[in-house]
Amino acid sequence: MKKQVVLYKKLSPTLMTRLEEQAEVTLIDSLDAQGIAKLRAALPRAHGLLGASLKLDAELLDLAPNLQAIASVSVGVDNYDIDYLTERGILLTNTPDVLTETTADTGFALILATARRVVELANIVRAGLWQRNIGSAHFGTDVHGKTLGIIGMGRIGEALAQRGHFGFGMPVIYHSHSPKPAVEQRFGAQYRSLPQLLQEADFVCLTLPLTAETEGLIGAQQFAQMRPETIFINISRGKVVDEKALIEALRSEQIRAAGLDVFEREPLNPDSPLLQLDNVVATPHIGSATHETREAMARCAVENLLAALAGERPANLVNGRAWKA
Ligand code: DGY
Repeated sequence: MKKQVVLYKKLSPTLMTRLEEQAEVTLIDSLDAQGIAKLRAALPRAHGLLGASLKLDAELLDLAPNLQAIASVSVGVDNYDIDYLTERGILLTNTPDVLTETTADTGFALILATARRVVELANIVRAGLWQRNIGSAHFGTDVHGKTLGIIGMGRIGEALAQRGHFGFGMPVIYHSHSPKPAVEQRFGAQYRSLPQLLQEADFVCLTLPLTAETEGLIGAQQFAQMRPETIFINISRGKVVDEKALIEALRSEQIRAAGLDVFEREPLNPDSPLLQLDNVVATPHIGSATHETREAMARCAVENLLAALAGERPANLVNGRAWKA
């Protein structure tokens, strides 16, 4: 008999066909109150779940006694209680690698947009306010040759370092759990303590996952260590940053600007003070959001789930301890 899969993210026709060849699929096509009610009703018979952008807590998962695997269409796994899943022997998979380059592109888009004030100045043109050559009040700041500071030197951090080093001639400094000799060799990157990096970097870029250890890592004290020229970029998770402290640092010109793809609460409240500030470029969590990459992530998740449900070890298993050969 086919396994039951609850899908809470729409797939392309090709991937839907692939999944339906192997499994009985219930599609939850939105995560509004109605969708969540439908999800709750489907959980008791689910062997597999596939989707993203939903906090799957114990209260919800207790409704799914037959659950064997969850395939998250994301690299970040902060929406899951990994200890709980492991205890229940539920496999959790994610989609690393396929989104690395695209997410690093997003990081660089924010670096360029904030440094060169692209959104602010494009809005002036759009509003019909470009009446003479712009003067120094509207000048930006160079990107090439400036110091790129990366906090969290994982795959995405490396891809950012590659762009900075080879594309823009930027000296790269980084902070992570431990020094990474291979990265130092490839990109001439240099390891720094967190306070040293915050003081030295022209661009402070967060690319690290949200964990109990990284939540609130960047707060008032850390912004105080940056310089008035610092541009702050976050493509990791909003909760790594104390958003109130960030707003204060921007308002008081403790830092120059911020490029933010992630926020403490998403979607960002339209009343957020961040949106009142010209020196903020805010994007709606688009790190991996291209047609090609989102399809590759969905394909990766489908293959992970099908492997898990077939009793094979999935390629991107997050909680290895849940795997019983
Ligand atoms: C990821 O893959 O983790 C992206 O940030 C989307 O959540």
